[in-house]
Amino acid sequence: MKTTWKPDSWRGLPIEQAPQFPDAAVLENVEKELSVYPPLIFAGEARGLKEELAKVAAGKAFLLQGGDCAESFSEHAAISANGTNIRDFFRVFLQMAVVLTYAAASPVVKVGRIAGQFAKPRSSPVEKKDGVELPSYRGDIVNGIAFTEAARRPDPKRQIEAYRLSAATLNLLRAFSHGGYASLGRVHQWMLGYVKDSSQSHLYEELANRISDALDFMRACGLDPEKHPELRATDFYTSHEALLLGYEQALTRIDSTSGDWYATSAHMIWIGDRTRQPDHAHVEYCRGVRNPLGLKCGPSLTPDGLLQLLDLLNPENEPGRMTLICRFGADKVGAHLPAMIRAVQREGRSVVWSSDPMHGNTVTSTSGYKTRRFESILKEVRSFFEVHQAEGSYPGGVHLEMTGGNVTECTGGARAITDADLNDRYHTFCDPRLNADQAIELAFLLADLLKKARHAQVSAPAAAIA
Ligand code: TRP
Ligand code: MN
Repeated sequence: MKTTWKPDSWRGLPIEQAPQFPDAAVLENVEKELSVYPPLIFAGEARGLKEELAKVAAGKAFLLQGGDCAESFSEHAAISANGTNIRDFFRVFLQMAVVLTYAAASPVVKVGRIAGQFAKPRSSPVEKKDGVELPSYRGDIVNGIAFTEAARRPDPKRQIEAYRLSAATLNLLRAFSHGGYASLGRVHQWMLGYVKDSSQSHLYEELANRISDALDFMRACGLDPEKHPELRATDFYTSHEALLLGYEQALTRIDSTSGDWYATSAHMIWIGDRTRQPDHAHVEYCRGVRNPLGLKCGPSLTPDGLLQLLDLLNPENEPGRMTLICRFGADKVGAHLPAMIRAVQREGRSVVWSSDPMHGNTVTSTSGYKTRRFESILKEVRSFFEVHQAEGSYPGGVHLEMTGGNVTECTGGARAITDADLNDRYHTFCDPRLNADQAIELAFLLADLLKKARHAQVSAPAAAIA
């Protein structure tokens, strides 16, 4: 039984997916430097998110989590002049959130995969091309994507760059979410130029019109929306996979208010499906920080294995602490999810159930691209909701890979991107992402499903009484 925890108690335990840094002294210096940098988030914010997630666990709100598979330095560099990429992502995210809030009449907890999503687990430590073997790309925080020996050599100094870009990104997101950009009065302006005239944009415009009408009505009644933070601003949180533990440790701080340890690299961090061994380093690190945690649940996780992890990561069964991010694949949800839900219910565990319909549905297209079919993504989400309905539990959220860019990475959707189209604008550094059109289409579908799920929940107790 593990008792003492320290930010470095993961060191010396078995660890998966750890890069081999050639020079230990350089790495140590970088970690030392990071450990005196300002925290990126404040513990009180992480607690705020936990409270919001506790509402999701109780069926009273919905979690929208999404962003890049892997953020990249070059994309950030390209935007640092005017913030376009971050802004475009944020616009699509706000649109999705407002669709869910309005059409499903559900508060939405907004969490980005952003401002720190730089480290990637890989299926193989090496990549072979034309007889040459090099270390795999592990995300910009570790090495470069170019297939050369120099680029692929893990470089600790990249962690300083990742920290700086995370700080700059977070700064802009904070400005957008509280500085007026996210005001409901701007609901029409979030639409991106290239989305105009799609079937989704018409649906969205209709909804935006109704919101504008409601605001006009309130104004006529004497209430100025711009003076009410509930209408003018939104809380937007950050998250990433806590994969590079040296980096995470360097940003782990004691909160002076509570005396507890927090990861200050993001509000929420998650444990990947490849690094969730109960007696290994990643679980050890995560169990000791008080942030909300995500746990990726794939087909290889058994119900008992899940309960064991919940015991380790949330021994006090604190609501909002654990979000189970289910990523089974469209055809496997029915075989794996019910037993997990039953185990959690039997043990009286409080969790947020979230669906990641992306990672279990990655295929190679005939043209050779790694892609995802929009239909499979929808199918996984639908099955997720159906299983929860059958088990009497609440489908609380989704976890998506998406971008504001006009990319062609996932096939299908209302604009029917084909295998042949993938070549047009395939920009991702890692996994294929939903583009704005596809993301908004998914939001409308989710709103429908969610409305039904919440109605079922509300009417359940009444039915029991009758
Ligand atoms: N503050 C509320 C919320 O965050 C309403 C709101 C303001 C909102 N701006 C938003 C909702 C943008 C969605 C998107 O839910
Ligand atoms: Mn991914």
